[in-house]
Amino acid sequence: MMPSDKYFHTDLPSSVIILGIESSCDDTSASIIRNNTVLSNLIANQDVHRKYGGVVPELASRAHQKNIIPVVDQALKEAKVDKKDLSAIAYTKGPGLMGSLLVGSSFAKSLSASLNIPLIGVNHLEAHVLANFIGKKDPPQFPFICLTVSGGHTQIVLVRGHLDLRIIGQSADDAAGESFDKIAKIMGLPYPGGPEIDKLSKIGDPKAFSFPKPKMPELNFSFSGLKTAVFNFLHEQVKGDPAFLDKHLNDVCASLQHCITDILLEKLELACEQYNISEVALAGGVAANSHLRDSLMKLAVKKSWQLYIPDFQYCTDNGAMIAIAGYYKYLANDFDDRESSPKARYPLSV
Ligand code: KG4
Ligand code: ZN
Repeated sequence: MMPSDKYFHTDLPSSVIILGIESSCDDTSASIIRNNTVLSNLIANQDVHRKYGGVVPELASRAHQKNIIPVVDQALKEAKVDKKDLSAIAYTKGPGLMGSLLVGSSFAKSLSASLNIPLIGVNHLEAHVLANFIGKKDPPQFPFICLTVSGGHTQIVLVRGHLDLRIIGQSADDAAGESFDKIAKIMGLPYPGGPEIDKLSKIGDPKAFSFPKPKMPELNFSFSGLKTAVFNFLHEQVKGDPAFLDKHLNDVCASLQHCITDILLEKLELACEQYNISEVALAGGVAANSHLRDSLMKLAVKKSWQLYIPDFQYCTDNGAMIAIAGYYKYLANDFDDRESSPKARYPLSV
């Protein structure tokens, strides 16, 4: 019998306690949840990448290796949960950086084997969507449409059940977060650029400059042209006035943020029309962007959508979203084999 079959249950316990481990990129995170309530959610950020202006995979793996035991220990302590009381261990199986994923998966496998409890492999993008269920008394109703905007992915997802997710639109090239980060780098801002641009935009004029919007078919996106357009625009402006960026940084940031938000919301609106759905959710790191959140809230009022946005700490990468996805997989007896390995590419479509 495979370990995954061994744990099959027909009677559900009233209290399911899951340890969720996230290590797909540059943050090591562990969280304990009881059913859909978060008891702890610890995140060790890796500042080591800042000086390189982006994530250095080798350094990320080393930092995960260093952080993972203290972070899991602290998550258990804060939750006041003994590891013997865990029902299962959920970990990010992919997509992500292979070295980083291997640290989390090896740790999760070893701990699940030593405690003799099930192991649950979670798709990182599915977890971003399911973050909308964390601690919610009135969670999204199925079917709903989720706009997932992270550093590596931009997707419009049709969600018909906790574990029934289908991509109906996505970026053909850069992700929205990647576009924030790359353009921020061009402007000499620190990594990650998204939060920096958000901050600087607060006192900028979103209508000061306009950037071209890509013409993509159906519900798909493209962001690589925007990066080139901003680069060329800045190049031209600085030629005329070397102090251009110093004088107009806030306006450029606000205009860029406005442009990215418009591109995203236009397609989201189209998706809701096409599928005749008015339950709408947002997910992923870029969901922390204040302009996107505000604009989406206004659009939801105008369109009479029921809108769901995770709390800030559950938008960017975190262990709680892995744990909540693990919870729904636990309920569905969807366990992982200890022989399985993480996947750098791990498509969401089920
Ligand atoms: O979901 P996430 O934490 O990691 C991935 O799965 O990629 O997303 C990280 C991305 C980065 O590109 C970061 O710049 C962006 O989310 N981000 C933001 C904000 N906070 C994080 N982008 C715009 N505004 C923000 N406030
Ligand atoms: Zn993510």
